[in-house]
Amino acid sequence: MIDTNLIRKDFPILATFVNNKPLVYLDNAATTQKPQVVIDTLVDYYTNTNSNIHRGVHRLSQEATKQYEDARIIVQKFINAKHSEEIIFTRGATESVNLVAATFGDIVVNAGDEVLISHLEHHANIVPWQVLCHKKNATLKVIPINDSGEILLDEYEKMLSSKTKIVAVSHISNALGTITPIAPIIEMAHSRGIPVLLDTAQSIQHIPIDVQQMDCDFIIASGHKMYGPTGIGFLYGKREHLDKMQPYQTGGDMILSVSFEKTIYNDLPYKFEAGTPNIAGAIGLGKAIEYIQKIGLDAINGRENGLLAYGTEILQNIDGLHIIGTSAHKSSIISFVLDGIHPHDIGTFLDADGIAVRTGHHCAEPTMHRFGIPATTRISVAFYNTKEELDAVADSIRNVITMFR
Ligand code: ALA
Repeated sequence: MIDTNLIRKDFPILATFVNNKPLVYLDNAATTQKPQVVIDTLVDYYTNTNSNIHRGVHRLSQEATKQYEDARIIVQKFINAKHSEEIIFTRGATESVNLVAATFGDIVVNAGDEVLISHLEHHANIVPWQVLCHKKNATLKVIPINDSGEILLDEYEKMLSSKTKIVAVSHISNALGTITPIAPIIEMAHSRGIPVLLDTAQSIQHIPIDVQQMDCDFIIASGHKMYGPTGIGFLYGKREHLDKMQPYQTGGDMILSVSFEKTIYNDLPYKFEAGTPNIAGAIGLGKAIEYIQKIGLDAINGRENGLLAYGTEILQNIDGLHIIGTSAHKSSIISFVLDGIHPHDIGTFLDADGIAVRTGHHCAEPTMHRFGIPATTRISVAFYNTKEELDAVADSIRNVITMFR
């Protein structure tokens, strides 16, 4: 059971004011707020430890290296990966999927092949595959969804063939909140020998992820959506895949030796971490994961499901408001349109009341097109939100409607 009053004190920004109103932060799918412990970790790192890693014999470098590598182990344990070298630190989910498309995709996808994504994807899980397919003369195929925003598993199964070389799907849609049925998706792909990449950018902060139990080949995630810093995220890949992949970027630290004639690449995971990485970010991400673990994902999930149910209930009672994405399996996100009022106008009026929501296509234009709309207003909750905040949104929306009608 989460004590919200207590937990909110961990997040200094939640006590601030916007437009002279107490901040109501409901844009957690865009980025989550940071607990003090993460902020302190970054300050402490730059105050006391700042140094480059894997390069120095001096004490600070040794200490920074230890903290960075400890963070990798925290990530490994969080997702139950078999080996710590299966965790590659990246700038975020976007860089992670680009890495897989450019390296693994380059090996497995050839002319005439197919890559399968769904109609629920964020642009970050569309464009890298589009680029790959274009380069390889392959075809990008899209698993359809129904009017509730759910993947059509029957259609998916029919689309799988010997031409399919990878399936890349989101675990939770950032635009609609649909939780995708990942177990049958992976099982149907694997029974045909097809690897699966799971975009957990919107799920890893809400639902426990066990990569061995799920048996996914790759997962991608962003630190800033899981209470960690921006500019850090990770890729998990099964070692058997990572071993075969060529480096994504080249330069320092990803090498064992270099001469003008030849370079020998470093071992995993360093082969994929060229240049000085976001050391403080990785350490901060580790701290954020420890923070999540202390509260417990089951408690987080329970609290957020209660908020989702409450928010859905009060919003759907507003005349002229239509929720887009009505799957029975949803998490933390309520996307909606209001008759006759553009989402950007709604967002602007809510902002005047100190309420932060996202408006637009949410980097998921094809999902919006599927519903015949250009944009929605999106509320996305975290465990530190309250029913009172959702009431405040509903009141604010009613005021917007009064103003426009
Ligand atoms: N992907 C982030 C969102 O959904 C930015 O808002």
